[in-house]
Amino acid sequence: MAIHFRSGECIPLEMHKVRMVQRLNLLPVEERVKASQEAGNNTFLLKNRDVFLDMLTDSGVNAMSQEQYAAMMNADDSYAGSETFYRLEKAIREVFGDVHFLPAHQGRACENIISQTFVKPGQTVLMNYHFTTTRAHIMRNGGKVVEIVRKEGLKVKSDLPFKGDVDIPRLRSEIEAIGAKNIAFVRIEAGTNLIGGQPVSMANMREAVKIAKDAGILTVFDASLLSDNLYFLKVREKEFADKPLNDITLELGSLFDITYFSARKLGCVRGGGIFTPRKDLYDAMLALVPLYEGFITYGGMSVREMEALAVGLHESLDFHVIEQTPLFVDALAKELTAANVPVVTPASGLGCHVDAMEFCEHIPPGEYRSGALAVAAYIAGGIRGMERGTLSEDREADGSDRIAEMELLRLAVPKRVFTLSHVKYVADRLAWLHENRRLIGGLKFTFEPKILRFFFGRLEPVSDWPQKLAEKFRKDFGDSL
Ligand code: F0G
Repeated sequence: MAIHFRSGECIPLEMHKVRMVQRLNLLPVEERVKASQEAGNNTFLLKNRDVFLDMLTDSGVNAMSQEQYAAMMNADDSYAGSETFYRLEKAIREVFGDVHFLPAHQGRACENIISQTFVKPGQTVLMNYHFTTTRAHIMRNGGKVVEIVRKEGLKVKSDLPFKGDVDIPRLRSEIEAIGAKNIAFVRIEAGTNLIGGQPVSMANMREAVKIAKDAGILTVFDASLLSDNLYFLKVREKEFADKPLNDITLELGSLFDITYFSARKLGCVRGGGIFTPRKDLYDAMLALVPLYEGFITYGGMSVREMEALAVGLHESLDFHVIEQTPLFVDALAKELTAANVPVVTPASGLGCHVDAMEFCEHIPPGEYRSGALAVAAYIAGGIRGMERGTLSEDREADGSDRIAEMELLRLAVPKRVFTLSHVKYVADRLAWLHENRRLIGGLKFTFEPKILRFFFGRLEPVSDWPQKLAEKFRKDFGDSL
């Protein structure tokens, strides 16, 4: 809850208390340089024991409530027909309405099933913006991705409330140009991960879906980041200020032909699922669940996670639960902005996104600015962020780098995991790094996988800049870690 102090300062007060803790380690800066080298200067490859604040992602690492843990004890472990499945299905229907539900082990598994079922070679998928695994699945099935997010979505600084919105005239002109029969589906991701977790308005979703439906094109909704998006609908879209969150989710459940989600984000567990109000679409996807996931009453998820998901979905309708991350992201963005660190605005859900394009403008584009900034943030504070830029793009067919439209360092804020002093620490170390940004140098690949190279690619610095950065840190901070 945002509350004001006597001084006028506004604080994101936690509406929960911490009753189980995990110990953290903060290595000395010299050891952080070594750990980064051992991890191929890829934050995905760092060992968690070497990380102080893990801001890589909010996926599968959110805090769960005591009600979720309690529900886990009540799981029905059976291969087929488990009571747990029926409880989860009931929760899905209470939250999203009269839909048919298919469980899957995580979000990308849903993308696999949807892409295999609906994308034919040569077809295009129109979407506000891609997510890495989404595009990979569509392309693997011979499809193409065309992104139609409104232009302002790709601007770092803006005060637009819904930067993830679809560019409606563009949607119309692409349908006209490509032809409806060549379009596998129109996909909307809300919030929109790779452009900084930016939200999408309901007005925009309604309009985009109507245009697609009128043209006879299937509509798909990626609801992985829905809990943040619900918060922004409540606080930024007038119509919803006084509406119960469940009214919004019920509308969304029937608006799209197909909805899927990563339950590692929505519901704060580890799993995923697809639902649709249309029985014919459910039938079309059904056979792939036992083939790739597991029987249709568990879909690769543990029954304990499924029980916790049923509770977590209901908790996503609690305003105090969904507001915590956006308020923390806002607090971090404000502290960073005050220290002149360039961040994506307005602050969104998911995490605070630092603009590496500007932060590291002295690094040539081919030397992976946001990857370098991720390494530097780890050295400066044991903070593990995630590169979301050119490194996260696979190469073009001709072998050249696909230069990303934005170069971001994502500092994810897992739900209800960190405290305000953690936020202040991150802001302080990033501000120091910004003052010393000229010490940051580029990276080059030493091992480069062909698909989703950012996950396990290895890189090396173009010079000994990590050591120089650590020396400056020692000089400025003395014995402080
Ligand atoms: N769609 C969106 C919008 C996502 O953010 C993710 C995952 C997925 C699909 C895939 O789901 O991981 O359960 O297979 N995002 C994570 C992240 C990985 O770190 O942002 P998954």
